[in-house]
Amino acid sequence: MIIKGQIYKLPDCREVTIKSAGPEDAMKVKLLREATARESHFMAREPEDGPMNLEVIREGLASFAESEKNFMVNAYLDDELVGDLGVSVVRPHIKFLHRGYLGMSIRQEYTGMGVGSFMMKVALEQAKKNGFEQVELGVYSDNARARHMYTKMGFKEYGKNPRAFKLKDGTYIDEIIMVNFIE
Ligand SMILES: CC(C)(COP(=O)(O)OP(=O)(O)OC[C@H]1O[C@@H](n2cnc3c(N)ncnc32)[C@H](O)[C@@H]1OP(=O)(O)O)[C@@H](O)C(=O)NCCC(=O)NCCS
Repeated sequence: MIIKGQIYKLPDCREVTIKSAGPEDAMKVKLLREATARESHFMAREPEDGPMNLEVIREGLASFAESEKNFMVNAYLDDELVGDLGVSVVRPHIKFLHRGYLGMSIRQEYTGMGVGSFMMKVALEQAKKNGFEQVELGVYSDNARARHMYTKMGFKEYGKNPRAFKLKDGTYIDEIIMVNFIE
């Protein structure tokens, strides 16, 4: 599923284009995900996990583009990719097809300017059109900004996976499970 361009205006009037990345954007997606992994501990990967595999990313983007349910919502400033969001079925089995799992990240420089809320709005509308009944995500318990934005956009906190993440310094962080019923 490919989502066509929509414009979001930053507070300084620069225009961000919100659309799906395709397989031709694999290098941009790789660079974005490696950068966001460096910028905070809120992503799954650490830089020490190694570089991401370009071919795997390209195949993933092609599969998203061809899917009738799964989709990406990306943010571009001119030609630069500054934000990444994906929604995909939890498992490709009948009992799970109503549940979409969402992950997202934005380059630090472009956070706090409404881009994430706009991407989320686009994603929730598309998820509903694609037949999802609920969108789920997991967030680090110390990620106050993300928890605030998700709550504002209709997600509720339903559970906690204690000590889900162990940082390099040995600190444990819980994962908060959030669900947005969109039917
Ligand atoms: C989390 C993330 C996607 C949010 O996107 P964003 O574009 O920064 O969010 P927005 O600017 O649309 O909204 C942020 C909201 O959080 C609020 N906020 C900012 N810092 C906050 C804090 N420390 N505590 C609580 N709320 C905070 C803002 O006031 C704003 O709320 P408002 O719209 O009610 O005024 C983005 O910051 C990001 O990618 N961060 C790094 C990686 C990450 O955390 N990914 C999420 C993994 S689950």
